[in-house]
Amino acid sequence: MYTQLQQRDASRNPVNVATLRSMKERGEPIACLTAYDASYAQLVDQAGTDLVLVGDSLGMVIQGHDTTVPVTVNDIIYHSRSVRRGLGRAFLVADMPFMSYTNPGQALDNAVRLMQEGAAMMVKLEGGAGQVKIVEHLAAHDIPVCAHLGLRPQSVHKLGGFRVQGREQAQAERMLEDAVALEQAGADIVLLECVPNELGAAVRGAVSVPVIGIGAGPAVDGQILVLYDILGITQGRMPRFVRNFMAGTDSPLEACARYVAAVKDRSYPAPEHCFS
Ligand code: KIV
Repeated sequence: MYTQLQQRDASRNPVNVATLRSMKERGEPIACLTAYDASYAQLVDQAGTDLVLVGDSLGMVIQGHDTTVPVTVNDIIYHSRSVRRGLGRAFLVADMPFMSYTNPGQALDNAVRLMQEGAAMMVKLEGGAGQVKIVEHLAAHDIPVCAHLGLRPQSVHKLGGFRVQGREQAQAERMLEDAVALEQAGADIVLLECVPNELGAAVRGAVSVPVIGIGAGPAVDGQILVLYDILGITQGRMPRFVRNFMAGTDSPLEACARYVAAVKDRSYPAPEHCFS
């Protein structure tokens, strides 16, 4: 009975939403990475990563698609339950894929599947004010939610490419309002992708929940990157915010530990990884 509790390393308390909030309050940067299988999950967990995301980026880095659009709920469940088996301390978030949260009922059904079948502790969905009702519905059922703003890869065909968002004042103001509305609706984390530093700092100051950035500058509460990007596995042109942490080491564990250390001591992101 309770064998999973006995197996835990008591010196490393598992991260939960309260841990993440207190890290924001203490000003300790939150180090996050994606993972898609148990072996890498074990490695990023051992490296000290606080939060692990089973991102729909798996559609690109695992399945070889050009976008995240083809990813299904079953795909995320398969990878999430594998990742969960590798984690000891990190908090597990799973992405709600494209068109899996078009109305509150469908969103709840799919979020429940990600938590029950995929063992996720939180779900992430993309979108601004249009998702307030969905987030309210999930929060009313005690489903922890991460709201993804800025560049929303599921909307790539509508946005016309993977581009920096929020450079125009009106768009930046709307994103700020959306972040506040999503927090009020019950979101527990805001994730900001590809926005100017200044907007990252403004969103961080406007909400009390942790703000995790990917290409959102140094002033947010934490950073996330795609694991295969920091390990130099992804080929081709990299987004500006990516840093290859395998440079100077042949150990993926060491590379992940260097990433965590760089997030914690704020040497990542450096000015060359940021947008203005
Ligand atoms: O799908 C994903 O991996 C993501 C991160 C890039 C934030 O959403």
